[in-house]
Amino acid sequence: MSRVALVTGGTRGIGAAIAKALQAAGYKVAAVYHGNDEAAAKFKTETGIAVFKWDVSSFDACADGVKKVQAELGPVEVLVNNAGITRDAMLHRMKPEQWSAVINTNLGSLFNMTRQVIEGMRAAKFGRIVNISSINGQKGQMGQTNYSAAKAGEIGFTKALAQEGARAGITVNAICPGYINTEMVQAVPKDVLEKNILPLIPIGRLGEPEEIARCVVFLASDDAGLITGSTISANGGQYFA
Ligand code: CAA
Repeated sequence: MSRVALVTGGTRGIGAAIAKALQAAGYKVAAVYHGNDEAAAKFKTETGIAVFKWDVSSFDACADGVKKVQAELGPVEVLVNNAGITRDAMLHRMKPEQWSAVINTNLGSLFNMTRQVIEGMRAAKFGRIVNISSINGQKGQMGQTNYSAAKAGEIGFTKALAQEGARAGITVNAICPGYINTEMVQAVPKDVLEKNILPLIPIGRLGEPEEIARCVVFLASDDAGLITGSTISANGGQYFA
């Protein structure tokens, strides 16, 4: 029987590539999105993947949403916490809303989502949780005190939950993508991207979403049972952590 995988932020960018790769690997996939109805509808038509709409920064919305997914597809065995936003600004100009939006969506969602599935995974003695962190959680990034803090927090969450889950057959890992060719990176001012970011990537190019998706498929597989609490850097050599 094919396993059920849930991917947050799963209809665009890295998340869409992850959802498609998991589908191709034989999983029943649920892709959760929040804002862009048009992109989600297109994604659903093109892939046949089930899409669900809720706000992962809300615990109650996650509780309701995961119930719906489980009623439709079955117990979630693979959870990919991918949903993330940026609200870049230097700290001296950052507004409280920019701080809390990023912390609640990028880090709060790990509690809100994982809490809904962890008891089921423990009872089933199997689970795979993959958190999509970032190079900028490892090294810090100017303009991103909010994002870097949230992404570093994801790594701490990963290491703590990995210890809790180990004896219950649950692995918990983080992937730290570098700069990947998605709308999020395309939103960085062009001169900043060309002058300050691209020259720092030794392989000389942005990563592709599919390159992150392949890491997720491996971590989700039975073959990856030994790997837990780890942080995989996938950044073209930009930063070694
Ligand atoms: N690295 C190095 N220098 C940078 C930089 C960066 N990422 N971003 C900005 N700078 C430099 C600028 O070149 C500029 O220097 P000069 O005065 O010498 O030209 C200086 O910092 C000030 O920049 P701005 O004039 O743009 O100042 P601002 O206050 O208008 O905006 C900023 C500052 C918010 C940092 C803006 O430049 C910005 O958005 N930068 C991009 C930040 C970034 O890298 N975000 C990553 C988004 S992608 C992502 O988050 C995905 C992931 O996980 C990797």
